[in-house]
Amino acid sequence: MSNIIISPSILSSDFANLEKELKKLEQNGADWVHIDVMDGHFVPNLTIGAPVVKALKRVTKLPLDVHLMIDNPQKYIKDFALAGADYITFHYEAAKDNTDEVIELIKSYNIKAGISIKPKTSVKEIADLIKKVDMVLVMTVEPGFGGQKFMPDCADKINEIKQYSQSVLVEVDGGINEETAKYCKNLGADVLVAGYYIYSKADMKEAIASLR
Ligand code: DX5
Ligand code: ZN
Repeated sequence: MSNIIISPSILSSDFANLEKELKKLEQNGADWVHIDVMDGHFVPNLTIGAPVVKALKRVTKLPLDVHLMIDNPQKYIKDFALAGADYITFHYEAAKDNTDEVIELIKSYNIKAGISIKPKTSVKEIADLIKKVDMVLVMTVEPGFGGQKFMPDCADKINEIKQYSQSVLVEVDGGINEETAKYCKNLGADVLVAGYYIYSKADMKEAIASLR
């Protein structure tokens, strides 16, 4: 057992029964709930927006870990903040020259700020930003879809990020299962996102526990 935070991604859950799905996560030991927001532009898929996040907030006490895979994140921070997000993570590649503005905007709502990098983006590119955020989300698949294969080379960024800051949380997202979770924990990961793995197992409690 470790102090790892498990943040199941509802992307693989039953969207017709989200209230029940959140209760199930609470009962089965999830620490946070990971919400994947996609705009069909930054990534080739569309999912959910701030109104759904607001509805989810009403039916769960789990911290909402919102992962924005959208262009122009600065335009939408307010909506997600008011919807009740506890963590808002945006993509470095999507924010372009506005990264400082986006981080400050998130923090102005007293929400934890996260920055995410896609597999091809190096840690060096965000070196100056690591100390300004609460969390760095390392993508270990190309963002857009659940159920893809874990890319071990991307996970090696965990170490590198920790060299810039000991206090920043490092979250890993994409292809997490019992085996890849171990790999990431050994490299120093603090938060693990898992979608397909958790929802494909018959016993969710066991699945979540197996990632710790
Ligand atoms: C992918 C999303 C992930 C995804 C992870 O773009 O950011 O959060 O749901 O899913 P699995 O665990 O299925 O790889
Ligand atoms: Zn995600």
